[in-house]
Amino acid sequence: MNKSLLNLVLPGLLATQLAVAADLRLDNGQLNASDLAVRQQLASRLAEISASPEQYEDALYHGQRRASLCKVCHGDDGNSVKEGTPNLAGQDPVYIVDQFNRYADGRRIDYWMGSLAASFSDEDKIKLAIFYAAQTTKPARGGNDQLIERGRRIYQNLCVECHGDDGRNEEGYARLAGQRPEYTAKMLKEFRTPTGRRYNPLMYARAFMLRSDEEIEAVATYLAHLD
Ligand code: HEC
Ligand code: HEC
Repeated sequence: MNKSLLNLVLPGLLATQLAVAADLRLDNGQLNASDLAVRQQLASRLAEISASPEQYEDALYHGQRRASLCKVCHGDDGNSVKEGTPNLAGQDPVYIVDQFNRYADGRRIDYWMGSLAASFSDEDKIKLAIFYAAQTTKPARGGNDQLIERGRRIYQNLCVECHGDDGRNEEGYARLAGQRPEYTAKMLKEFRTPTGRRYNPLMYARAFMLRSDEEIEAVATYLAHLD
């Protein structure tokens, strides 16, 4: 098996198990069984593709072709060219497909992403996710040293436990490293506000601990500097 391929896909698979375990803890055993089944199915499909260099090359090729619809907002290589639009380069593939499913069934609301996600087959979603996961993140950066240091302290206290020391998804959730700061800030505000655009009980509890918009800006700026 191709080693770089393993490095790409294995953290995602481990991530799925950890994310599933966290959901189970949180929901006190009331995890939506079909959601769990979908994630496990996805993890095994990714493992199958990664075990075959031909299937992997095919997924990358078709993923890139389908990504022609996305470039105008997410950039040629998954580094976003539009304010409020996230970088997808280097994002965890299981997380990407999971978000497609959430947009498609209305658990996450966005006009564009909702209609696009609903138009893709499961295989399209997987190929797109593999293509973006294989791209290199270009950190957004910005801000000043004082803000970055404040953000670093907040991140170390409140976020590493799930998002990992370097924000690269070791523990199974979204990659945050290098993300555009205004997008990260927008999401943190959405998680803590019950508008219904995006809900996740783990992130609701955590985003609520950020006491001000300045703290949100600081942590988002810090994350934008991580490679
Ligand atoms: C018109 C601009 C636009 C186009 C075209 C577009 N997106 Fe998006 N995308 C966005 C915006 C804006 C968001 C954040 C929306 C929100 O607030 O939830 C987003 C969010 C996402 C997310 C969630 C990322 C995360 O970090 O949670 C994924 C995955 C994604 N898009 C994939 C795609 C793919 C794949 C395509 C092409 C098939 C595509 N998008 C086309 C604007 C766009
Ligand atoms: C207990 C685990 C946990 C902790 C701690 C946690 N998160 Fe998260 N985070 C998650 C999960 C789960 C998701 C995916 C949510 C979803 O799929 O809707 C997520 C998603 C996110 C996203 C959305 C990423 C994207 O691309 O749209 C951001 C931003 C984020 N977290 C920031 C933070 C910050 C900043 C902290 C610390 C203040 C933090 N998280 C702490 C579990 C956690």
